[in-house]
Amino acid sequence: MSLVTLKYVLEEARKGNYAVGAFNFFGLENLQGIVLGASRRKSPVIAMASTGALKMFGEKVAVATTRALSEEYETDVVLHLDHCTDLDLLYRCVDNGFTSVMIDASSKSFDENIEITRKAVAYASRYGVSVEAELGHVGGREDEISVDERKALFTVPEDARRFVEATGIDALAVAVGTVHGFYKSEPKLDFERIAAIHALVDVPLVLHGGTGVSDADFIRAISLGVRKINVGTELRVHGFFDVMCKGCKDAVDDDPRKITAKIKSTCADIVEQKIAVFENKKN
Ligand code: 13P
Repeated sequence: MSLVTLKYVLEEARKGNYAVGAFNFFGLENLQGIVLGASRRKSPVIAMASTGALKMFGEKVAVATTRALSEEYETDVVLHLDHCTDLDLLYRCVDNGFTSVMIDASSKSFDENIEITRKAVAYASRYGVSVEAELGHVGGREDEISVDERKALFTVPEDARRFVEATGIDALAVAVGTVHGFYKSEPKLDFERIAAIHALVDVPLVLHGGTGVSDADFIRAISLGVRKINVGTELRVHGFFDVMCKGCKDAVDDDPRKITAKIKSTCADIVEQKIAVFENKKN
């Protein structure tokens, strides 16, 4: 078991008609929990470092730690750079051993997005590293935009076809009704759009903003071609903050491992449960 590419795990997921869970890590205990949770299900997992997490870890430590955990828990892990807007940082991650990178030029024009994404693909593919890119714009819950304005940012199927052909990416993040962070009201996924994009592009689709999406919606999205599902906020809030706050309140002695061990096991439980849903169709 070792670090594997996104392309490899998503191709296996395509054959098995399931999705691979992708989870953001921000510290050692939650990274341990991510790999432990996947190992309990004997499933591959995608561990995602945001650019903020990388500032804390550093590329070399992220790679060495994730590789060691993959061996320790005998689990295939994709080490993925999430939402990178800086090509130099992306190149450094490739150089240091990341097996997958996301270039996010989704806030740029269509042509600029293609140009920047092509640069990422040209560099990463030399080293066999997978590339995910985003077309349309997923955005965050906090963005002060109306429902109609958000819909205007949804991925247009025909554009997706042109974008994938022009860039040679390995996976496409689509804007289809999810946002990053907790939802103010129940998310409404545009399933017809997912199906329409899937019919036109031959790379796996990625659903961002997995926190707060129902199991039924996940399963329907997977049946329509989603192969990677990102979950971040749930691990941060329920897997870390809730445990930390409760642990500090209840602390009766000075053993921090009582809190860190609980962060690890809570993150593992969340990851295990999500993977079970994402693999609903497996076997
Ligand atoms: P959530 O934080 O909403 O789960 O989204 C995570 C994500 O999409 C990371 O790219």
